[in-house]
Amino acid sequence: MGALPSRSFHPIYLYTIRLITSRVSTDMDSPDSKTSVVNDAVTEAMIRAAVAKLDWPRLEHEYWEQDEFLYLNNFLPPEVLRVWEQELTTLRPRIHRNYIPGHKKGGSVGYDTMRVLAPAMDAVYRSQSFIQFLQKLVRAEIKECPESDPHRCALYAYTEQGDHIGFHYDTSYYKDRRYTVLFGLRDDSNSRLVCRLHTRNANRETEWMAVKLAPGTLVLFNGDKVYHAVTPLQKGEERFVLTLQYVTSEEMHWFWRFVSNMKDSIAYFGFRQVFFNRDPKV
Ligand SMILES: [Fe+2]
Repeated sequence: MGALPSRSFHPIYLYTIRLITSRVSTDMDSPDSKTSVVNDAVTEAMIRAAVAKLDWPRLEHEYWEQDEFLYLNNFLPPEVLRVWEQELTTLRPRIHRNYIPGHKKGGSVGYDTMRVLAPAMDAVYRSQSFIQFLQKLVRAEIKECPESDPHRCALYAYTEQGDHIGFHYDTSYYKDRRYTVLFGLRDDSNSRLVCRLHTRNANRETEWMAVKLAPGTLVLFNGDKVYHAVTPLQKGEERFVLTLQYVTSEEMHWFWRFVSNMKDSIAYFGFRQVFFNRDPKV
């Protein structure tokens, strides 16, 4: 008998194990802790390798030159994307639809559901290698949002004709800065993330940018600086985006907490999930 092939211990092989086990363990009340440990360790290795390949000087220049906005193609390893695709299938029945005339139409899944049904997405959110990469780029000690924040790690789903979001800032209700990371998950659409840069930079003319969030693409920006929208979905198209939020302070005044919760209830996740941390479909 020969020795086990060396690829048996390769992260991709372990990730395949994770993919198989994730299809078995979808019980909201019984997350598999051993699977979770494997998932976290492999994700960490994958993200560390992805960060090591980056052209750091170019990224840093782009981020600051674009007034704290970065668009980065093909950041996510295909092995991670394949597991995310599996998790997307599990998440689809949990999508909460919402419609605000003149501003927003689409669906979302909040963190309370994501942490159980999308552990590989949550693992990237919590990855220390990823957080350190972000900290270095934005030059701030950013950290995870509190677990009670449904935007911390959430899914945005554009699945019906006309799904879109109007122009807005990702305003920080926390006592300091809030950063948004978007990952393209699936994009069979002509929709674009349209951004207006330098809107609060008195020394520069504003710039427009329209980008497609293909699978594995990363977008990072300071929520209070980038004015952005998503153009309407056309008939027969689909678009899914993972959104991650990081902050420099976890503190929030009770009044702004109330405002933030009301906005999240109406525009994103529903009252039951935001105020009672419950997915109404579970
Ligand atoms: Fe936004």
